[in-house]
Amino acid sequence: MKVLVTGGMGYIGSHTCVQMLESGIEPIIIDNLCNANQAVLARIEALTGQAPTFYQGDIRDEALLDRIFEENEIQSVIHFAGLKAVGESVAKPIEYYDNNVNGTLVLARAMKTAGVKSIIFSSSATVYGDPEVVPITETSPVGNTTNPYGTSKFMVERCLSDVFTSDNEWSITLLRYFNPVGAHPSGTMGEDPKGIPNNLMPFIAQVAVGRRDKLAVFGNDYPTPDGTGVRDYIHVMDLADGHIAALKAVGLKSGLHIYNLGTGKGSSVLEMVDAFATACGKPIPYELQPRRPGDIAECWASTAKAEADLNWKATRTLQDMTADSWHWQSNNPNGYDSE
Ligand code: NAD
Ligand code: UFG
Repeated sequence: MKVLVTGGMGYIGSHTCVQMLESGIEPIIIDNLCNANQAVLARIEALTGQAPTFYQGDIRDEALLDRIFEENEIQSVIHFAGLKAVGESVAKPIEYYDNNVNGTLVLARAMKTAGVKSIIFSSSATVYGDPEVVPITETSPVGNTTNPYGTSKFMVERCLSDVFTSDNEWSITLLRYFNPVGAHPSGTMGEDPKGIPNNLMPFIAQVAVGRRDKLAVFGNDYPTPDGTGVRDYIHVMDLADGHIAALKAVGLKSGLHIYNLGTGKGSSVLEMVDAFATACGKPIPYELQPRRPGDIAECWASTAKAEADLNWKATRTLQDMTADSWHWQSNNPNGYDSE
């Protein structure tokens, strides 16, 4: 089966392409490389022995999308492409809504033209806003988002839900990721943020490898066991497997399918620091700082629905996440530019 993977050169997309090729599914990648490195393609090939078809281009280029659908017998789309930095989205709302919302609409129109009515969308736990109750289930309230990035995810969920309402032949799967971390166990593929990392795990990894002096821990006065923020960190390989499970279980079945992809377990910032220190064999220097605006205290997923319907469950541990992240970072201190 051929699947169009938008944003397939990025962090989650690249790991998903590897797992797809390992399970006999052929990814056709479109990526404009605005947040990815060309070197990823060779790494995917080195791991799988297969070079995926790659189109360098933008999902807002409808003529290109039409050509891709004409040139390949695509059955489904996994839609990763988008901008994802929360802080940047506050400064650049037009770019975020254009890329994430308009980009998805152009893609959906091209899919309709091509008669491809199956899409798996990268949504986020951010659509739940500040949850009143944890664990978060798929029926928890959504939409109380606090920044343009989160709002763009919520808007795309609504747009795609309306597409399903208009035509019940569509198979629309909204996957709400919790906090993806880790890297391919080979140490050849991983997260390679441009500039100063916004997220906890890549920041810790860059401190460990000596690119940054110390971690700023944003707040230790939250109502959590050690006062620092608690999140549901999920290994990127488990997340990648979750896409294949979703594709097989519901991806070609008509319906609006919504799943959390998380582990069901929360870890604090200080627990992550400790786990990483164990993985890399040295302490991670940090200092306590005030809370980061817009952050919530805690958030983790109910995994029951995904387990029941997709026959999928995250299996990799916090030790796997930190060990694989360190393996990648220590082998590639400057990410894909280390070559
Ligand atoms: P990423 O930035 O590594 O990957 C996104 C890819 O899309 C990049 O390779 C980028 O070059 C490409 N891209 C962006 N805009 C494009 C466009 N208009 N046309 C073509 N390509 C384009 O991010 P990621 O962490 O792999 O995230 C993938 C998806 O998952 C995103 O939609 C993101 O919002 C979502 N998500 C990520 C997280 C996370 O913490 N990483 C959490 C929840 C949801
Ligand atoms: N943190 C620090 N120092 C840092 C970075 C983060 O202490 O340098 C803390 C945060 O305050 C938070 C925790 O580490 O308590 C996790 O922060 P991340 O930025 O790694 O992740 P978030 O949960 O804030 O957000 C991430 C993605 C969003 C996505 C969300 C949903 O960035 O895009 O997960 O799961 F929507």
